Amino acid sequence: MKFFIDTADLAEIKEAESWGILSGVTTNPSLYARTGGKLADFEGHMVKICELCEGIPVSAESVAETTEDMIADGRRLAALAPNICVKLPICEASLPACHTLAKEGIRVNMTLIFSAPQALLAARAGARYISPFVGRFDDIGDDGLAQLETVVDAVHAFDYGYWEAEGGPEIITASVRTPNHVTQAALMGADIATVPFAALKKCVHHPLTDQGLASFTADWEKVKNA
Ligand code: E4P
Repeated sequence: MKFFIDTADLAEIKEAESWGILSGVTTNPSLYARTGGKLADFEGHMVKICELCEGIPVSAESVAETTEDMIADGRRLAALAPNICVKLPICEASLPACHTLAKEGIRVNMTLIFSAPQALLAARAGARYISPFVGRFDDIGDDGLAQLETVVDAVHAFDYGYWEAEGGPEIITASVRTPNHVTQAALMGADIATVPFAALKKCVHHPLTDQGLASFTADWEKVKNA
């Protein structure tokens, strides 16, 4: 399974990139708002992320509400950098937009996926990536991982005729909150997990690793003083 980072924060992206584990970046309007960025700087900010992450996909989300506006946004965003992927929310307006953009060779990440039928429609319309959300199900007392498994099984059961040469459509496990979300997504065969930086850091650590490291350090002090 590949790791994407779910953030628009340049410092976080730079640090995760330096770990050598990064295969992509996903952003959304809320993540961009969290950087304090202004509307006029949005596209420039996406370009900066693309420059930091040359050669790996960077999802930039359209907030358009009509098919025509989504297509126009998609074409404009895709022209910003070769690694831009246009993020669209699943809805009646975005399916035709996704289809048009896919036929033009523009990669779409269909987001806000909460059911297998939504995911199958996105794949059929030509989405390069499909982003089912896990944590937001947990937030309302549902089982986000069980929902993810349904999407993974349904989408992986078929061919769609788009993006096959690149191994697509790929499933991006989104709304990830915990290392266990990452573990279970990998075990069920999700292609990608997009993980916020704080959760990515949690994935590096384990209490027994920290404990083991402390005792190795303490014992080495004894060796040095022997
Ligand atoms: C997906 O690409 C979204 O940016 C993201 O995973 C949303 O997660 P949240 O539920 O933590 O906002």
